Amino acid sequence: MLEHLFQSFTSASLLAAIVGLLVLNFLRSSFSSRNREPPGPTPLPLLGNFFQVDFDNLHISLADLSKTYGSIFTVYLGLKKVVVLTGYKAVKEALVGYADEFADREIIPIIEDFSPGHGLIFANGDSWKEMRRFTISTLKDFGTSKRISEARIIEECNYLIEEFEKLSFLSGKPFDNSRVVSYAVANIISSIMYNMRFDYNDPIYQSTVERDQETITLLGSASIQIYNTFPWLRPILKNWKLLMKIIRENEAESMKIIANLEETLNPEMCRCFVDAFLTQKQKLEESGIKDSHYHYENLLQTVTNIFAAGTDTAGHTLQWALLFMAKYPHIQDKVHEELRRVIGSRPVRVEDRKNLPYINAVIHESQRLGNVGPHYVPHQASQDVTLNGYLIKKGTPVLPIFYSVLLDENEWEAPHTFNPSRFLDKDGKFIKRDAFMPFSAGRRVCVGEGLARLELFLFFTSLFQRFRLTPPPGVTEDELDLTPVVGLTHAPTPHKLCAISLQ
Ligand code: HEM
Repeated sequence: MLEHLFQSFTSASLLAAIVGLLVLNFLRSSFSSRNREPPGPTPLPLLGNFFQVDFDNLHISLADLSKTYGSIFTVYLGLKKVVVLTGYKAVKEALVGYADEFADREIIPIIEDFSPGHGLIFANGDSWKEMRRFTISTLKDFGTSKRISEARIIEECNYLIEEFEKLSFLSGKPFDNSRVVSYAVANIISSIMYNMRFDYNDPIYQSTVERDQETITLLGSASIQIYNTFPWLRPILKNWKLLMKIIRENEAESMKIIANLEETLNPEMCRCFVDAFLTQKQKLEESGIKDSHYHYENLLQTVTNIFAAGTDTAGHTLQWALLFMAKYPHIQDKVHEELRRVIGSRPVRVEDRKNLPYINAVIHESQRLGNVGPHYVPHQASQDVTLNGYLIKKGTPVLPIFYSVLLDENEWEAPHTFNPSRFLDKDGKFIKRDAFMPFSAGRRVCVGEGLARLELFLFFTSLFQRFRLTPPPGVTEDELDLTPVVGLTHAPTPHKLCAISLQ
């Protein structure tokens, strides 16, 4: 009897011990899975994953790593831990699903060097919120309000057409369109910011636009990426010195224009973005508020940010669209056919877009495959977030790779093929695609999206109403090179095309 009691007691305690262990184990594993950080390649001490990423093509090498580690993974750039997001689902889930948590920007060393906390792109907190709110509302008045910007862009289209005619000597002579396209696009920003347009031959304007382009190229260069990873390398980096020199020269140029505008400021007659800012600054000062966000540093950085963000991106997209048309003449034929049928010879207006579905699809596909969007504009987690079961700790830099969204095989059939039909339904009507996210999404979504879409539509249609683009004599369509030049934005490799006048 005693022996039996003893046996039941030991089996019961054994069972209790086993259950206890199982519960403990379950609790431990569920706790640790909630705290599991995204996987990634094993880092080396100090160097991190230096040998697994290609700083010349960071976005491509990160997209490649996602094939092994999934769409949310960790890499160490030196000592810095970065969470990378690739593909539509992960990027959308983070930037839209956790919009507030991922609204902050990581302030990388090169940015700290020239604009600590000011402006729009590389600022956080209340100053960023105020500059963003002000920019969106002022761009509505001067930039994305269809009536005003349509008139400005159409005027600029005529200058660009004239320039194409001059460069081709009205005889289809091949030329490189990249400079004049950049000048045209920069003039749109300049007229919004300063109420000024510049002659394409003005040497000061030419060097300002060129410096802007160089800034973007250098910011995306391998040496500056390496500097952001190992800031102590600064004294030996030639590109760092060059970049700072160029940035300071452009700031000085902008300050001169701002000073001229301030001298002739009339709050009753607001001419441009800078006037609107200075008027707001004056109003706040008059009402006794001295420490507002409306100060010269914020004005200068916001203006230069908008020039940098709005010139190369839109200019390179337009260049890609022109190159794709020369490379795929059967698609260009359809563009011409739609323009002849719907518009004829009258000027194109913004409201024509809804009646030009094929052209709208071509522009979207050019933007998707041209894939110019910045790849290295990092966000940062402002608090601990659990994304798809992975913990991303407060303060961790988060890098959404838009390049991988626009080429996501789960969203786009044959993503490397130029195929405008993916934006059309079976009746030829334009369809929006969720994974078309070149302007990002969430709290940091591009503030110039509306303006960029207007520019692309009006420049593209005006040029194709007047010209047929072809490869130079002796070059076949197949030989036109689609390899991009990688900077902070993707530009087509320098090339020449012929613009054959249709009139
Ligand atoms: C085809 C043209 C363009 C493309 C593809 C593009 C794309 C982008 C992308 C991907 C971002 C980063 C968003 C993020 O961090 O999540 C961005 C930000 C930004 N873009 Fe654009 N952009 C274009 C044109 C423009 C234009 C014309 C302007 C100026 C009017 C502009 C002004 C800005 C600014 C100021 C930001 C920073 C916003 C912030 O940090 O709050 N962009 N853009």
